[in-house]
Amino acid sequence: MMMKIGIMGASGYAGGELLRLLLPHPEAEIEFATSSRFAGEFVHMVHPNLRGSTMLKFTPPSVQGMADACDLVFLATPHGVSKGIVGDFLDAGVRVVDLSADFRLKDPADYPTWYGWEHPHPEMLADAVFGLPELHREEIRDANLVACSGCMAGASILGLAPLVKTDFVDKERIAIDAKIGSSGGGSDPTLASHHPERFGALRPYKVVGHRHIAEIEQELALAGGDPVRVGFTPHAVNMARGILATIHIWHNRPLMDRDVWAAFRGAYSDEPFIRFVKSRKGLYQLPDPKVVAGTNFCDIGFELDPHAGRLVVFSAIDNLVKGAAGQAVQCFNVMLGLDERTGLEHVGLH
Ligand SMILES: NC(=O)c1ccc[n+]([C@@H]2O[C@H](COP(=O)([O-])OP(=O)(O)OC[C@H]3O[C@@H](n4cnc5c(N)ncnc54)[C@H](OP(=O)(O)O)[C@@H]3O)[C@@H](O)[C@H]2O)c1
Repeated sequence: MMMKIGIMGASGYAGGELLRLLLPHPEAEIEFATSSRFAGEFVHMVHPNLRGSTMLKFTPPSVQGMADACDLVFLATPHGVSKGIVGDFLDAGVRVVDLSADFRLKDPADYPTWYGWEHPHPEMLADAVFGLPELHREEIRDANLVACSGCMAGASILGLAPLVKTDFVDKERIAIDAKIGSSGGGSDPTLASHHPERFGALRPYKVVGHRHIAEIEQELALAGGDPVRVGFTPHAVNMARGILATIHIWHNRPLMDRDVWAAFRGAYSDEPFIRFVKSRKGLYQLPDPKVVAGTNFCDIGFELDPHAGRLVVFSAIDNLVKGAAGQAVQCFNVMLGLDERTGLEHVGLH
């Protein structure tokens, strides 16, 4: 059945990727693509890659209008917007895929701690399903509200979830060093994103206390059954798209490659968007975000470091696709009972 779709925040970077992926999707018909700033303009005025693909125009955001016209809405709005409007969609019987952080955390007390505000609808957090199909596929199928993971959080969780289920990981000593391209900050310009400041940068930021720690620890504790503590430090790097999470894990007994392979293969062998990258030959021996740009793949590889007693895992995604819009479309496919790869099968550029 063709679903009538609304995209709120369609002029943004994640919204643009939702349009790119959903316009050709065989089960989606886009009824609403909202923008306040560009209302009345063709979407290709803002997303020039869509020229010739659609004559769709932006409309101003209207919860009532979208609820009346749509079966399902994607909310690609800044943090703090969806918490005020999701209830209206759900009351109208419209399913929601939210790309922001407003419904990712289960414990209401985490919102003042990590985001600085009290959640206005703590009662809704329990029913929201964390939108990583690799971890929550069965719950996503019937969910009315899916809260997609953060981009760096998604890369980190996918690299770690199978390992925290083993008995060899020290769950109190995990360090994640994430590198992210400039589109991770969204399309609203700031001094930090201004070209002369951003170009050529390799800049650590939010070195401690980054908000994504909350969802990483939440999801890893759920996956492994014990509390997990991670140190997490992101770096702004000189790319527009892409994330590489380099994850340092200390283990509590000697390890062989086959122990790590057993964990990853056991968890991900049937996953359509997880690829293992660990080769002794060629240029691309380990995951590189360049290779997954534009795709919904998460490339995962690892190396053991017997000298330091360390396992190093690499997880590469495109922050706007597997880290945002692609993951949202993958969840949409699961919610509709479609093949998860629908509309997401393309490979990247080389
Ligand atoms: N960028 C990433 O890599 C990434 C990855 C994962 C998750 N996300 C999440 O996805 C969401 C969108 O991110 P983005 O990078 O695409 O941001 P963005 O480029 O700044 O786009 C935000 C969009 O929201 C609209 N908007 C702003 N305030 C609004 C309001 N009060 N009501 C309705 N629409 C409003 C904006 O358009 P108008 O002002 O024209 O209406 C714009 O279309 C954020 O929650 C972000 O955290 C982003």
